[in-house]
Amino acid sequence: MSQSAATTSSDQDLSDLLANAVARRRNFAIISHPDAGKTTLTEKLLLYGGAIQQAGAVKARGEQRKVTSDWMELEKQRGISITSTVLQFDYDTTTINLLDTPGHQDFSEDTYRTLAAADNAVMLEDAAKGLEPQTRKLFEVCRMREIPIFTFINKMDRPGRDPLSLLDEIESELDLTPWAVNWPIGSGEQFRGVIDRRTRDVILFSRAERGRQATEQRLKLDDPQLQALVEDDLLDAAVEELDLLEAAGAELDLELVHAGELTPVFFGSAMTNFGVRPFLDAFLEMAQQPIARSSSEGLVDPLREGFSGFVFKLQANMDPRHRDRVAFVRVCSGRFEKDMTVKHARTGKAIRLSRPQKLFGQDRAVVEDAYPGDVIGLNNPGMFSIGDTLYVGAKVEYEGIPCFSPEIFSWLRNPNPSAFKNFRKGVNELREEGAVQILYDTDESKRDPILAAVGQLQLEVVQHRLENEYGVDTRLEPLGFQVARWVSGGWPQLESIGRIFNCKTVRDAWDRPVLLFKNEWNLNQLKEDHPDLELSAVAPVVSGVEPISL
Ligand code: G4P
Repeated sequence: MSQSAATTSSDQDLSDLLANAVARRRNFAIISHPDAGKTTLTEKLLLYGGAIQQAGAVKARGEQRKVTSDWMELEKQRGISITSTVLQFDYDTTTINLLDTPGHQDFSEDTYRTLAAADNAVMLEDAAKGLEPQTRKLFEVCRMREIPIFTFINKMDRPGRDPLSLLDEIESELDLTPWAVNWPIGSGEQFRGVIDRRTRDVILFSRAERGRQATEQRLKLDDPQLQALVEDDLLDAAVEELDLLEAAGAELDLELVHAGELTPVFFGSAMTNFGVRPFLDAFLEMAQQPIARSSSEGLVDPLREGFSGFVFKLQANMDPRHRDRVAFVRVCSGRFEKDMTVKHARTGKAIRLSRPQKLFGQDRAVVEDAYPGDVIGLNNPGMFSIGDTLYVGAKVEYEGIPCFSPEIFSWLRNPNPSAFKNFRKGVNELREEGAVQILYDTDESKRDPILAAVGQLQLEVVQHRLENEYGVDTRLEPLGFQVARWVSGGWPQLESIGRIFNCKTVRDAWDRPVLLFKNEWNLNQLKEDHPDLELSAVAPVVSGVEPISL
């Protein structure tokens, strides 16, 4: 065989390998409000994937086992930071990447950024509560990115709201068309199971022993045995409601699902392990595989030959023994290989990636290769920033990750001037890592930074880390604002409208004007007074410009 024929055939092998890897991969994040059951559902999904052997491994119980998914707990004990990570496992012929987002009161921008790396989202609701505030917020981010949403209505073993009203709420409040994939028979004490809408099979509910994989008994809707197992009135009511849904005429259109306009809805109970496997199977069938992403060169296909990816999260001191910094990279195209030399789009530097890591909760292993949809962890001695692109071959640069609108603002005071050097280093590094946004007063004499966060705990974590990692004691002094808006036209536009009232003007780390308001009402008033002033709740993405340091 000639050399060129050999090259061609190995190129072919590589592109087959890549195509195969992409077709096998599904990547998703779970969005939910605290307590809806995200940890429980994650644990059950990992159990089906064989990634953990025993339920309870995720949630440390009496025996104080290590937390696999929620290593947040571990971090809480260490008191360093609240974060999210990725869990990769195989199920059947699929490789699943579950991007784990923190879901508790420690809600922060990390969660938003993780969604930038997700191709699909699972929206988890508590059947008794329906849509809750954090779910709505996260949904908005998914909507911005047109991420397909799969809804799992959890805790059906407990008394919950009327299922039709839960669907109505999704439709009317999120402007998202729900399509029930299964329909519940009874609820709470009288929950008997679900009817699979596509096959019209009845799947009977039985309470599995905590943590076990329930065996699901399926019967045809006209099977005479059903009479002895399910009360007639409950079954009749469920069938009637299902018929109503059918009569309403919506179809399960995958294109609409992938456009983020229609959400398949599943009813189940993660704790009792009911409906989780059918959900996983249907999800894998309908979810989108790693998709093409927008870049400076247009859409980049995951099958593009050269590797490319972007940094969506930075995390310092993950391992307190090593005081390291890790950059999480979402692979977008091509095959990533250990020891590969890549180009760093922002600086143009070539970097050899010699110790890429695969992370599973707190465990790490050196990764040999990775494919689109996967996440790798890179050692980051300060060269990577959030949104940075790495690539091989022709240059591509992915659209950055926007900063999200903060809702809590506080001066960060350094009462000890001799510690200023460390204070400055800490503030700059934590900003770079994206732990918090930093704003500055327009009055140059007020040099202290303003911390801007989406959750209170974010501020506490920053303060804690400054103390533990940089040895500086700080004081927080709340500013009493709740809403921030970037002025799209920059300083010239702001100056052109003259004096404005009931808001404070500050500048962000890229010297762009940001207006802070006490409430929405004040914001709306400004909009009425100055209809031409263009305001944005999300900071425009910056690329190629170095931010102002403290
Ligand atoms: P989160 O990560 O979204 O915050 O929720 P998590 O899984 O921790 O679940 C919150 C609570 O809801 C837990 O109870 C959990 O057991 C319960 N739960 C989750 N799924 C279901 C379900 O399908 N049915 C019922 N009835 N409960 C469910 P907890 O009392 O806070 O903790 P635990 O002692 O049960 O662990």
